[in-house]
Amino acid sequence: MKIYNWGIIGPGRIARKFAEDLQRLPNARLHAVASTSIDRARAFAAEFGANYSYGRYDDIVHCPGLDVVYIATPHVLHCENTLLCLEHGIPVLCEKPFAMNTAEARLMVNAARKNRTFLMEALWTRFIPAVAHAFDLVENGEIGELHTVKSDFGYSMPFDPASRVFNKALGGGSLLDIGIYPALLSLFLFGKPAAEDIQAAATFTPTDVDESCVFTFQYPGNRLAINHSTIAANTPVEAWLHGREGSIYLHPRWHHTQKLTLSRYEFRQETKRDIEMPYEGRGYSFEAEHVMQCLDNELLESDKVPLYFTLDLVETLDAVREKVGLVY
Ligand SMILES: NC(=O)c1ccc[n+]([C@@H]2O[C@H](COP(=O)([O-])OP(=O)(O)OC[C@H]3O[C@@H](n4cnc5c(N)ncnc54)[C@H](OP(=O)(O)O)[C@@H]3O)[C@@H](O)[C@H]2O)c1
Repeated sequence: MKIYNWGIIGPGRIARKFAEDLQRLPNARLHAVASTSIDRARAFAAEFGANYSYGRYDDIVHCPGLDVVYIATPHVLHCENTLLCLEHGIPVLCEKPFAMNTAEARLMVNAARKNRTFLMEALWTRFIPAVAHAFDLVENGEIGELHTVKSDFGYSMPFDPASRVFNKALGGGSLLDIGIYPALLSLFLFGKPAAEDIQAAATFTPTDVDESCVFTFQYPGNRLAINHSTIAANTPVEAWLHGREGSIYLHPRWHHTQKLTLSRYEFRQETKRDIEMPYEGRGYSFEAEHVMQCLDNELLESDKVPLYFTLDLVETLDAVREKVGLVY
């Protein structure tokens, strides 16, 4: 069994959770950490037993024995950090949102193809067992023809103009941070909506990023996706998949849920079945495991989160931003 040596760029909050979950995988170890501060890099490396620490992102690409890098910096740095690794032939798992806009995303995808190096957006939700099972249930016709997907993601974040979430220069706002989850659910189930079939409205913070965003996608055949994100309220964070013969409820927080309820419509009554799919850890080990399987198989991209899907997602978020006037 090959042991994969992981590097992390940007050892912040999500990087810590990811590093904790890497420890659950027998074929993964944290090998290198790059921070803008050598002290932070050393402290993080020491905490997780990594051998190498760097006080500049650029230096990690020269790390001996490095197999793959996880990029966990603020959105605005994803493109630059990804290009750095790809140009040195180092495979990349890049946090969501993949890029600030389609132009950046294309640069990243083109660099992966030109350098024949693996690249995937860290859409961990796709690999959560219960979420993947919900997709299989839909695919297998358990709820009949799917016609409506409805999901939300909201949390109450106290206003702090300096924080990544409110800071426009760091790509702040609800849509790119968490609205991306309802968007990706809709795209996984229905595909990319045509730009003219997207409706959207948003409210804005004093820092001019979206505080709340509602957006709908209409598809041919009476199909609809209803999406909501906000950084101003703790919303249920649940998802409903409605079909002509039944529904699937993804329990909170749906994007890493461990429980589904499958309902089937019978004449004048509804039968319900709970499906529990518990897992250990925070839910990030599944995407890491998938990346290593792809690398084992010498794939240049994932079949579960292919690069065309990531481009579709970025283009859709760009279209929503255009509708609400959210410009970075
Ligand atoms: N998949 C998920 O569940 C999930 C959850 C949360 C966030 N995310 C994504 O992960 C990324 C990071 O989010 P986070 O919540 O971990 O952010 P965070 O705690 O602020 O960490 C980001 C790290 O990036 C580095 N950084 C470089 N330039 C920076 C700058 N100008 N301002 C702030 N930090 C800077 C910092 O590390 P050094 O300075 O030490 O290098 C910082 O610790 C975002 O793109 C976010 O969308 C994903």
